[in-house]
Amino acid sequence: MIGVSIVGGSGYVAGDLLRLLLAHPGVEVRQVVSRSNAGRFVHSIHPNLRGRTSLKFEAREALAKVDALILALPHGEAAHSIESYAPLAERILDASADFRLRDPALYKRFYGDEPPAPNWLPRFVYGLPELHRQEIRAARYVSGVGCNATTVNLALWPLVKAGLVDPLLPVIAEVKVGSSEAGANAGESSHHPDRSGVVRSYAPVGHRHAAEIRQETGLQNVHLSITAVELVRGALATAHVFPSARLTEKDLWRLLRDTWKGEPFVRIVHEKQGNFRHPEPKLLAGTNFADVGFAVDEDPDGRPRVVALAAIDNLGKGAAGSLVQCLNLMLGFDETTALGFPGLHPI
Ligand SMILES: NC(=O)c1ccc[n+]([C@@H]2O[C@H](COP(=O)([O-])OP(=O)(O)OC[C@H]3O[C@@H](n4cnc5c(N)ncnc54)[C@H](OP(=O)(O)O)[C@@H]3O)[C@@H](O)[C@H]2O)c1
Repeated sequence: MIGVSIVGGSGYVAGDLLRLLLAHPGVEVRQVVSRSNAGRFVHSIHPNLRGRTSLKFEAREALAKVDALILALPHGEAAHSIESYAPLAERILDASADFRLRDPALYKRFYGDEPPAPNWLPRFVYGLPELHRQEIRAARYVSGVGCNATTVNLALWPLVKAGLVDPLLPVIAEVKVGSSEAGANAGESSHHPDRSGVVRSYAPVGHRHAAEIRQETGLQNVHLSITAVELVRGALATAHVFPSARLTEKDLWRLLRDTWKGEPFVRIVHEKQGNFRHPEPKLLAGTNFADVGFAVDEDPDGRPRVVALAAIDNLGKGAAGSLVQCLNLMLGFDETTALGFPGLHPI
């Protein structure tokens, strides 16, 4: 059994990591560290885990050496303390944005400050298996992914890979997001009467995940807007791309099939009929799937447009699911281990 410990234990990402890893046949969850709940049962904070574990949260000082350590801490915390975590584990995965960007200048531009641990940036591999599978297999250190960035990166990737995005024209990506993206700590914006029912332009410009999209797609002319909607889990990207060549429905089908062939967690959703013709985050709650789709506006009078779509569970493929997928790759397990949950319908 491979020992895995988790830091940031009361958080939503930690909760989903526990849900997945407690069912992993090759992993034993050894310790769950909590700053605020040490001594309490894990299920007192993550009630869905009642009967699944008798672990109690432990203090940071009690953290022992382990095969793999997963940090699920707020932004900045992992970078400030990475030197103290590194001796504890051969492999470290970090859910935060602290180690996602390779270029310190890009980090500074989007996060406002110099990266706190710049020497660690090149040691981490960006934890999106669909783009970095081989590097992740060989890595000691893997970052998590931004959930919004992941929807846009997966929506755009077939067009980017094929060189079909016109670099002179902007790509505009709008992502609709659920409330769990904001984490477990309640704030003014998550107060139920204020959050419930919203279609809130949360970040029409300036969202930090644009940095990860630029890094991963190589597109500099890509722009991101985030809208908070009535969902707990889920994110849906709608990206408008003006391709460098005229593309038909058939071309897009072929492109997506070629790109995602053999990917266990990417599904092409593009149906002619029914309620679920396009990717729909509601169906993905609790899963590690990314559903991708498209629509083509051939507009004979103007510039043809491709609408690239992708939906995920922000805590699944957008965080804990991807981290478990990476852990599987790093440890030589089948990549899909513990990630088989197909979701619920109806939900
Ligand atoms: N939520 C998402 O959809 C999502 C998606 C992708 C990536 N991420 C990233 O994953 C990380 C964890 O996200 P999350 O949603 O699980 O956040 P969260 O619910 O706020 O959990 C973070 C946990 O970190 C612990 N912590 C340790 N030091 C802290 C400090 N100084 N201030 C506040 N909390 C502290 C707390 O748990 P204890 O009190 O038990 O220590 C807290 O519950 C973040 O960096 C986030 O950006 C989140």
